[in-house]
Amino acid sequence: MEEIEVAPPQANEVRIKIVASAVCHSDLYHLFESMHKDGFPTVLGHEAAGIVESVGPGVTEFQPGDKVIPLFISQCRECRFCKSPKTNQCEKGWASGRHNVMSPADSRLTCKGKKVLQFMGTSTFSEYTVVNQMAVAKIDPAAPLDKVCLLGCGICTGYGAAVNTAKVEPGSTCAVFGLGAVGLAAVMGCKAAGAKRIIAVDINPEKSEKAKVFGATDFVNPKDHSKPISQVLSAMTGGGVDFSLECVGNVGVMCLGVLCGRVGCQRNCWLDRLRRLFCPTPSAHGRTHMEGLCVWRL
Ligand SMILES: NC(=O)c1ccc[n+]([C@@H]2O[C@H](COP(=O)([O-])OP(=O)(O)OC[C@H]3O[C@@H](n4cnc5c(N)ncnc54)[C@H](O)[C@@H]3O)[C@@H](O)[C@H]2O)c1
Ligand SMILES: [Zn+2]
Ligand SMILES: [Zn+2]
Repeated sequence: MEEIEVAPPQANEVRIKIVASAVCHSDLYHLFESMHKDGFPTVLGHEAAGIVESVGPGVTEFQPGDKVIPLFISQCRECRFCKSPKTNQCEKGWASGRHNVMSPADSRLTCKGKKVLQFMGTSTFSEYTVVNQMAVAKIDPAAPLDKVCLLGCGICTGYGAAVNTAKVEPGSTCAVFGLGAVGLAAVMGCKAAGAKRIIAVDINPEKSEKAKVFGATDFVNPKDHSKPISQVLSAMTGGGVDFSLECVGNVGVMCLGVLCGRVGCQRNCWLDRLRRLFCPTPSAHGRTHMEGLCVWRL
């Protein structure tokens, strides 16, 4: 635990008192797996909720006392991406080419006089943080902050993957691999989209009950089977699922996620793309982890 200084907000910035912050696997990925030296020192955390403590010049939409969720993908509402219904990757975001951290000039955090980078532009594992006003969402004053903090990343990622990206169809069969916050939200999204069968897959047997609470109709633990899980799912569904959502971040599981789909052109296209992405040449190092999740419409 380190004591840090959080500078007052500058023009168009908001200083937030963080009340609740969850741990997303992407925090762990940055810490233990990506480990690029340009990404440190940093304060991790990006899935939080808090209360506005002070605002900088030019801030009109927020005032002290507002309940808010900091956003790691900003919404300037003006750029071509913000205006497009196809993406939400705002061009004014903080992260492009910066190893998941804000540039030192943009960070308001220091520790013993030295700049500390803001992970994902948010740095919510701190009692206070400062973010640009376009990276803040005002929420209902009655919202319980310890619960809605999950809307800062995991819930939107998983739910949106099912509903917006995969566009899960009513009556379809879905497989969801990995049942952390992202996977459970994907299960919830599949259910909301009207999926008839939702097969939740996790190597942790304790996830079974929780997955069913969120709408899974079946739970499969790959460790209970000697065959590859893709074959197990294929047999369970009479030939494969319609939608497969990989919410682990493991390239091997992504391949299995494709293989459990119905045999057909789409499935083969995805497999081909995956192979080219991760095994471009026999001599290249195939990646084993990817920070993100994959959605297959099979
Ligand atoms: N916007 C984004 O793209 C975005 C946002 C949030 C998280 N992520 C990524 O999504 C992934 C999941 O995040 P999370 O916070 O829900 O993670 P988590 O660690 O809470 O959950 C992962 C789950 O996967 C299970 N699992 C591990 N190996 C497995 C395997 N081989 N087969 C089946 N299940 C397995 C674990 O038991 C665990 O329940 C991570 O890779 C994270 O980096 C991406
Ligand atoms: Zn996250
Ligand atoms: Zn924008």
